[in-house]
Amino acid sequence: MAIIIIGGAGFIGSKLTRRFLDAGDRALVIDNLCRGRKEFIDTPPGKERPEFVHADASDARALRRVMAEYHARHPVDMVWHMAANSDIPAGIADASVDLRDTFMTTHAALEAMKQLGLKKLAFASSSAVYGDHGPDLPLREDTGPLLPISNYGAMKLASEALISAAAENYLEHAWIFRFPNVVGIPATHGVILDFIRKLKATPGRLEVLGNGTQQKAYLHVDELVEAMLFIADRDNGKRNLYNIGPDDAGCRVADIAAAVAERVSPGARVLFGTEGRGWVGDVPKFRYSVAKAAALGWKPRFSSLDAVRRAVDEIARQEEAAS
Ligand SMILES: NC(=O)c1ccc[n+]([C@@H]2O[C@H](COP(=O)([O-])OP(=O)(O)OC[C@H]3O[C@@H](n4cnc5c(N)ncnc54)[C@H](O)[C@@H]3O)[C@@H](O)[C@H]2O)c1
Repeated sequence: MAIIIIGGAGFIGSKLTRRFLDAGDRALVIDNLCRGRKEFIDTPPGKERPEFVHADASDARALRRVMAEYHARHPVDMVWHMAANSDIPAGIADASVDLRDTFMTTHAALEAMKQLGLKKLAFASSSAVYGDHGPDLPLREDTGPLLPISNYGAMKLASEALISAAAENYLEHAWIFRFPNVVGIPATHGVILDFIRKLKATPGRLEVLGNGTQQKAYLHVDELVEAMLFIADRDNGKRNLYNIGPDDAGCRVADIAAAVAERVSPGARVLFGTEGRGWVGDVPKFRYSVAKAAALGWKPRFSSLDAVRRAVDEIARQEEAAS
C-alpha cells in the first residue's frame, strides 16, 4: 500500500510514518520542516525508505502537484493529514498562523484528493475543538456546543467541518481523531520539553506558567499511533469521529513539574504563577471520555501520569544526547 503523510516529519507524523514502513507500506512524507525534521523519519532495516518532499501543504497547487506525481507512480490508498501549527500561543498572537498551517493545509489536502480521486483521509484533530466545559463533564464525541477558545481549536474545528462536507461529496471514508496532550519523543514542543529546557538554563529553579492546578489528559505517542491504526482498521464508516486518550481524570501540571524536577534537577524549587491557566487559549481542566474507542475494543495501557513519567525520561535522554 502507498500512504501519504502530510506533516510526516513532525513528532507524531514521524512515529506514524515509521509504523507504515514497519508494516511494509510505501510512504510519501510531505512537510515544510517548520517544526519537523527529516532525521525524525527513520527507516527500519530492510524496508523501503520513504520518499520526502519539502513543500508547503497550505499551497494547494504545490500540494496537488506533489501528490499527483507520487500517485502516478504509486497509487495511493490513504492520506494522513498530521500537519498543523502546534504552537497554540503563536496562533493566539497571530491568527494567520493557524489559518495557514492548520486550516489551509486541510483545504489543500482535500482539494488535491478530490482532483486525484483519493477517497480515504485520516485527520489529526484535537480536544481543543470542545472549548472549556470545566473539569467535571466528560467530553464525548457528541458533547457540545463546540466553542473553541483558541484559534488553533477554531481551525481544527473548521477543518473537521470541511472534512465532514467532503465525506458527503467525494471522500468515501474520513477518520477524525481528537487527541488530548500527546507526549513522547521526538519531542519538538510541549510542557515536558519546556520544563526540561528551563531547568537546564536555570538548574535548581523551575518557573511554571499558571498555578499548577491545570489538569489534563496525557497520552503517550506510541499508544496514540496504535489507537489510530486500530480504529482505522475496524471502523470504516463515512465519518469516523473518535476521541483518543487515557481513561482517567488527567494529571496536574504540578505533578509534571515534580516529575521533571525529580528526573532532571532533584531538589529544584518549583515556582508557580497565580493564574489558573497557563496562557490565553489554554483549557485549564478537561476530562475525556474514550468510551467510543473502548466500545470498538481499544483500551489505553497507560494512565496520564504513567504516560508523563515515561515521556519525561525519554525527553530527558533526548536532551542529554543533544547537548
Ligand atoms: N502533540 C499534541 O499534543 C497534539 C494534540 C492534539 C492534536 N495534535 C495534532 O497532531 C498533529 C501532529 O502534531 P505534532 O505534535 O506532531 O506537531 P509537530 O509540529 O511536531 O508536527 C506537525 C508537522 O507539520 C509540519 N507542518 C506545519 N505546517 C506545515 C505546512 N504549512 N506545510 C507542510 N508541513 C507543515 C511541521 O513541520 C511538522 O513536521 C497536528 O495536526 C497537531 O495539531 C497534536
